[in-house]
Amino acid sequence: MSLKRPKISIIGAGFVGSTCAHWAASKELGDIVLIDINGDAAKGKALDLFEASPVEGFDSHVVGTSDYTHTKDSDVVVITAGLPRKPGMSRDDLLATNAKIVGDCATQVAKYAPNAVLIVVSNPLDAMCHVAMKASGFPRERVIGMAGVLDGARFRSFIAMECDVSVEDVQAFVFGGHGDTMVPMPRYVSVGGIPLTQLLSKEKIEALVDRTRKGGAEIVELLKTGSAYYAPAASAIQMVEAIVRDKNRILPCAVHLKGEYGINGLFVGVLAKLGKTGLVSVPTLEMNAEEKAMFEKSAQAVTGLVEDLKRLGF
Ligand code: LAC
Repeated sequence: MSLKRPKISIIGAGFVGSTCAHWAASKELGDIVLIDINGDAAKGKALDLFEASPVEGFDSHVVGTSDYTHTKDSDVVVITAGLPRKPGMSRDDLLATNAKIVGDCATQVAKYAPNAVLIVVSNPLDAMCHVAMKASGFPRERVIGMAGVLDGARFRSFIAMECDVSVEDVQAFVFGGHGDTMVPMPRYVSVGGIPLTQLLSKEKIEALVDRTRKGGAEIVELLKTGSAYYAPAASAIQMVEAIVRDKNRILPCAVHLKGEYGINGLFVGVLAKLGKTGLVSVPTLEMNAEEKAMFEKSAQAVTGLVEDLKRLGF
């Protein structure tokens, strides 16, 4: 029996894509193909990363190219292609430009890697999941958006800083769309098993929630020429790891809901179980009236974007 390494293709060799390749290689998750319209840049970054492997001691082939035939039979494909935000822009301002790019990428993926699980990272995230699903024709089990892990990671970071505890001991997640209406869930935060609501005042928690909602913009304002990439890439690769290692992890992700939480036919961030086949199931979280109202408002914001997409012909 020949044991084949998982094949992970990453579309877009910008900061997010190349950092995804970095995390995936360092975790030895499989062989990596880095695709970019600028084939030489992808080739250069891939070669540079591979040349780090003797030092770091990971066995992953890493190739870079503009040629999608190299993505043939990938197990997982991460789409990071698209423009990032500039200061003052919202993720939604990227809608038309990135829909075209993501649609083209997903069409190519479907052609060469028809059984892959697609992880969408490009913004505006939830809308781009719709574009990727339509262009690829993949079922919902194999089109999953990365947002909740990132927003949850930001929430966890801020909580760990505030409580002065290890980030490892903070469990937290965020529901809803990856935008200003996202819904961090403080009631479900655990700090080493202790509910956050027992550790911090309502006002303190509200400030952490607010910083989480604006977490992407905080980085954009500081970088000035682009958006975050270390945490977005680490988050996408945590999802890839759950899939290629068939871990059945419960992670917050954008999922095409089919009646769960009373929503049908819309990508929204919820908790999802991820394993070898992609989305394994959508466990149900109990929400109180306030959480439910915020979640529904966030879903409405995503619906608005999907309607804009339709008007733009996507
Ligand atoms: C962010 C972008 C990647 O939240 O959406 O940083």
